[in-house]
Amino acid sequence: MMYDYALMKGELAKILSHKRYEHSLNVAQSAYELALKYDENCEKAYVCGLLHDICKELPFKQQKQMALSSGYHLSFEEICSKSLWHAVAGAYYAAKKYNIADEDMLNAIRYHTIAREKMSRLEEIIYLADLISADRKYKDVNRIRKLAFSDLQLAMREALRFTLTNVSDNCVYLPLCSVQAYNQYVFMCSDRNKEQEE
Ligand SMILES: [Fe+2]
Ligand SMILES: [Fe+2]
Repeated sequence: MMYDYALMKGELAKILSHKRYEHSLNVAQSAYELALKYDENCEKAYVCGLLHDICKELPFKQQKQMALSSGYHLSFEEICSKSLWHAVAGAYYAAKKYNIADEDMLNAIRYHTIAREKMSRLEEIIYLADLISADRKYKDVNRIRKLAFSDLQLAMREALRFTLTNVSDNCVYLPLCSVQAYNQYVFMCSDRNKEQEE
């Protein structure tokens, strides 16, 4: 499938603030590079990067409405946290507005905020791209950026650790699927170390 990047960028420029527009381009760029590195479809990764936050600046009422009509199951924690609605709404929007029917792409947008167990390669790429994009400035960003291109599992564990730490610092609900994802990568990384030790 051919994707019309210019059309998407034009719309993003219209409905997002300059800052978030730049962020979306940066995430798309990082996603493209990660896809290249890990043999994933670069075009799909780029499009998911562009669209992942497309609903983020819509009024919450509208985000909620879209999330609820998306057909995706929303967990209790997601319903309670406004800041998570844009991901579900975004997947719905991508399907409706751009006729994206690729489940993997829609899931990558849908789970870019909370992650989940058994993420696909594309889902991992979008999750990480969002955290390592050029505009990100938190303390550990360079370390996670490097890891993203050298060790995908370890990068996911560290990215989730970073996110979960922030979420718990703010004393809001920890989405269960984020904790399950984190545990999965802890398990995968420790299991690997064991193999190396043997
Ligand atoms: Fe987002
Ligand atoms: Fe984002």
